[in-house]
Amino acid sequence: MSGPNTDYDPVEVAAVSPAEVEAARDAALAAIAAAADLEQLKAVRTQHAGDRSPLALANREIGALPPQARKEAGQRVGQARGAVSQALAKRQAELEAEHEARILVEESVDVTLPTDRDPVGARHPLTTGAELIADIFVAMGWEVAEGPVIEAEWLNFDALNLGPDHPARTMQDTFWTEPADNHIVLRTHTSPVQARTMLTRTPPIYVVCPGRVFRTDEYDATHSPMFHQVEGLAIDEGISMAHLKGTLDHFATSMFGEGITTRFRPSFFPFTEPSAEVDLICFVCRGSGLDDDRSGACRTCRGEGWIEWGGCGIVNPRVLQACGVDSSRYSGFAFGMGIDRTLMFRHGLEDLRALFEGDVRFTTAFGSEL
Ligand code: PHE
Repeated sequence: MSGPNTDYDPVEVAAVSPAEVEAARDAALAAIAAAADLEQLKAVRTQHAGDRSPLALANREIGALPPQARKEAGQRVGQARGAVSQALAKRQAELEAEHEARILVEESVDVTLPTDRDPVGARHPLTTGAELIADIFVAMGWEVAEGPVIEAEWLNFDALNLGPDHPARTMQDTFWTEPADNHIVLRTHTSPVQARTMLTRTPPIYVVCPGRVFRTDEYDATHSPMFHQVEGLAIDEGISMAHLKGTLDHFATSMFGEGITTRFRPSFFPFTEPSAEVDLICFVCRGSGLDDDRSGACRTCRGEGWIEWGGCGIVNPRVLQACGVDSSRYSGFAFGMGIDRTLMFRHGLEDLRALFEGDVRFTTAFGSEL
């Protein structure tokens, strides 16, 4: 910055001349008015009010004027700079207000609009599956019965003719509660609900009992220490194996579609006599045992044409007697199958664990099913 220059000819100081100052001010005001947004105004501010702007330059020139010319020039430049900075402030405020108003409109969110992104949740397929099964029986006039999952050893075993030396009683299969001499187990099947029902009701009895059961099984694609069974019990006069077969065929057809019926294979259960394993016609190959292009074995039933579904039989008279039912007058049938397994068939699930792990990607796929 130069100091006072006494030889200085004011005529030469063009930047401070009234015309120049006015022109610089007008140019600045015009540019400010023309600035369409805050970005542009920022550039205008640098150009017209910044250190290198004509008016800042003029301001610096004042010091170089002869003393007698400084006051007037100072006023002139000062007023021009004041007008420019006022105009800048005003335009800044206007543009900021505009900007805010525009953001309010552009970025506004209508919270009343419906959205499909809410996770609505789903009823678990096991719940809906158990209800579906219960509904099939309720439609035939049956009732739904339930019992506790923590069960008396006597009801889980003894009442069902499972003698003290039956292998299923060993630690291998049964979860026993402590202390052992309380004789309380986690029920290993839904059959104790049969016993409970017969002990508390008088025939005729037609009940279906879905529920959780527990066995000391590994946890893998086809086993779980906790799974679900559905038990059926019918006690009436003149009940025969034919009623059992007709009921299970109806159950199978309702679950898996027209033409899917059952066959019985001789088996043994302490609580039924005679007893049978129930197989289902394979609903994929429909009993042919062949895969889709008929060249290899069906993968679902491994070429058998049949799928194991559960156990059944005519209620052993010893069970009727243990549960206070007159076995000379009444007879009955019972059956039990895995609900989880039934759902795996029905929905083509490869891994049982999908049913227990609560992954919403799995369960929501069933969300609309009632
Ligand atoms: N309770 C038997 C089981 O868990 C199934 C069954 C029920 C068999 C009723 C016959 C009659 O394997």
